[in-house]
Amino acid sequence: MTASSDRVVIFDTTLRDGEQCPGATMTFEEKLEVAALLDRMGVDIIEAGFPIASNGDFEAVAEIARRTENATVAGLARAIPGDIARAGEAVRHARRGRIHTFVSTSPIHLAHQMRKTEDQVIEIIQATVAQARNLVEDVEWSAMDATRTSIDYLCRAVETAIKAGATTINLPDTVGYATPEEYGDMFRQVRERVPGADKVIFSTHCHNDLGLAVANSLAGLAGGARQIECTINGIGERAGNAALEEIVMALRTRGDVLPYETGVESTLLTRASRLVSAATSFPVQYNKAIVGKNAFSHESGIHQDGMLKHNETYEIMTPASVGLTKTSLVMGKHSGRAAFKDKLKALGYELGENALQDAFQRFKDLADRKKHVYDEDIEAIVDNQIASAHD
Ligand code: KIV
Ligand code: ZN
Repeated sequence: MTASSDRVVIFDTTLRDGEQCPGATMTFEEKLEVAALLDRMGVDIIEAGFPIASNGDFEAVAEIARRTENATVAGLARAIPGDIARAGEAVRHARRGRIHTFVSTSPIHLAHQMRKTEDQVIEIIQATVAQARNLVEDVEWSAMDATRTSIDYLCRAVETAIKAGATTINLPDTVGYATPEEYGDMFRQVRERVPGADKVIFSTHCHNDLGLAVANSLAGLAGGARQIECTINGIGERAGNAALEEIVMALRTRGDVLPYETGVESTLLTRASRLVSAATSFPVQYNKAIVGKNAFSHESGIHQDGMLKHNETYEIMTPASVGLTKTSLVMGKHSGRAAFKDKLKALGYELGENALQDAFQRFKDLADRKKHVYDEDIEAIVDNQIASAHD
């Protein structure tokens, strides 16, 4: 796949960056289940874990590598020979295995975390990428904290990684600092300046500290990246990573201005979201785009009325396209008569004008007192009304 192709490689890191966030640990069996669904969904690359981190992580990556039928399985490794050897061992049995190795490139990380000079880091990149390439054909190299790295040094580091055999170059916004314009421009400059850049795939990896992870990932595509790293429900370090379901649906819904394709079967997105939420015990916020409980729910009278007339009035994608059976018109104090009448019909009631007006008034009174009005509440209102009419 060349950098000019419009097919975007979806690299899912739910089982690595996602699992890395506090409290999101998954069991061995849960990881296998998530990986199987990701594979079925058509994700291109599953980053299954960080094999050097623990024996449990190693075993999970190795088992996912054995079982995965379509996707490439990646194991993460720091730029340390022992890490790379362990990652290579973990992905050895994969149909397609990848070693993903990374090192920091920003002055702040070099000075305070690595305590190394720029020249020393260049030597490390050369040696570790070459080591990984001796173990597998498919090597991804990441410049950690790329967005806070000078463009000159970033180009030098990327050139070194490409010469040493990297096949994918990832430029992460590790701390979620970049704006879309800056992020897209970084890819443009690196691709223009580095010899051999046209032979590799560039990748985005965006964190959500400023809520810009998805916007930045899409800007990365405009700058020439053709792989997006993301997670189900956007879980990940701190404020999380770019959410896979948002990326996939943005590309699917706005193909007119985002002319790229993924291989992901979008009707499995809701299922994947629920599986990851259950496995990690991380609830999905109600108003989360695409997979939140309210993403296809309407309460206000005006919106419900519009939806009853035509579903494109207030929905830009269908619930079916993400694996939901239908839109939900939530009955509450903002609901109007049209939605109330429609709900009664669904519950099997046909009321005359006066009875309908009376029931609607009682429903509004109840909705003022009660946060949730359930179907049973509405049935009780109408049944009581019918009973008192017969008294
Ligand atoms: O955020 C980051 O920089 C990472 C790297 C390991 C790719 O997760
Ligand atoms: Zn990350």
